[in-house]
Amino acid sequence: YLGRDWLEAGEVVALDAPQLESLLVEKDPRVVRALYVHADSVCERFCKGKVHFRGLIEFSNVCRKNCGYCGIRKRMANVKRYAMSKDEILKLARWADDQRYGSIMMQSGELLGEERLRFLCDVIRTIRRETDLGVALSVGELPNAHYRALKDAGAHRYLLRIETSNPELYARIHPRDDLHRWETRYHCIKQLQKLGFQVGTGVMIGLPTQTASDLARDLVWFRDEDVDMIGMGPYVYEPNTPVGDMWLEDLRDKGIDRDARKAEAFELSTRMTALARLTMGDVNIAATTALQAIRPDGREIALRRGANILMPILTPPETREHYQLYEGKPCLDETATQCRSCLKLRVRIAGKEIGWGEWGDPVHYHHRN
Ligand code: 5AD
Ligand code: SF4
Repeated sequence: YLGRDWLEAGEVVALDAPQLESLLVEKDPRVVRALYVHADSVCERFCKGKVHFRGLIEFSNVCRKNCGYCGIRKRMANVKRYAMSKDEILKLARWADDQRYGSIMMQSGELLGEERLRFLCDVIRTIRRETDLGVALSVGELPNAHYRALKDAGAHRYLLRIETSNPELYARIHPRDDLHRWETRYHCIKQLQKLGFQVGTGVMIGLPTQTASDLARDLVWFRDEDVDMIGMGPYVYEPNTPVGDMWLEDLRDKGIDRDARKAEAFELSTRMTALARLTMGDVNIAATTALQAIRPDGREIALRRGANILMPILTPPETREHYQLYEGKPCLDETATQCRSCLKLRVRIAGKEIGWGEWGDPVHYHHRN
């Protein structure tokens, strides 16, 4: 089914864009099942049945941007803005360390400035000094000097989604101004790689006007750009946003109902996960929260179709509600402890085990360097 009569279990397959596209739209359930089983075998080969945790700290929702799909974009007037103090972040990090999560992911809206940079560097240095945690960042597009300072402070992973590898589609889902340029985003990813970060990127799946051919080219792009980590998930409708309006309009035009479109985006997302695993082998792939926004068992399904990373949310419940990038973000009233036991169970259901206390670096990064 992949242009070959026989595949060894765990074999990585270099599919081209047309082959990827045809597997994304494949209707035969036997072929799709075979794809998932094979992706899981590749995952087993490189990840040895292990899932690694990244404790997610959404430390601020202040953002200077207006991405067309996002629920905390600057123009959203009804969002209560917050920024955690150093002590609040450290408390969450220490908890994650005590739980032997291995590493944390610090995420926020995009904010420039020397003060913010100093704050972040200080927090990172303290975490690295006082805990065994690995530190990943996802704080957007910054000048190269800032990236370097963050690296020197002890951050070693960085996530910056390209959102789509198609610059025209990127332009359609962002304001057309200098703050939101595909080229800048791409340039940042390249800079981060040059600085020696483990670099993760990803795309949203099921965006209005996005085609299967766009998604196939996203997968080729991940491989060509030699990324270490991939985080992708379905686009989730967010009211009162330009992309949300486009999404509704598209449903109306095509006469499709919401649930059908959501189910389609979900299926495409796990197919993308499987195909990324199949074509790239040794990268880290996250089972993202957005999958669970569409299906309660979304993340464990992804763990069986090629994903090996889970990001339990550490942000306390009273803050979580202010970090809603999209409608129906799951687990809003859960505490970190509840998240931990829930995800433990989900990993067990997926037939995997948790790599407690390990950084869980992508094998790919060490091969690349
Ligand atoms: N649906 C799905 N993902 C979203 N993101 C932002 N808004 C949405 C949405 N409505 C994703 C983007 C961004 C990441 C932090 O969250 O891909 O890079
Ligand atoms: Fe800001 Fe990120 Fe939302 Fe864009 S997606 S508006 S950068 S928080």
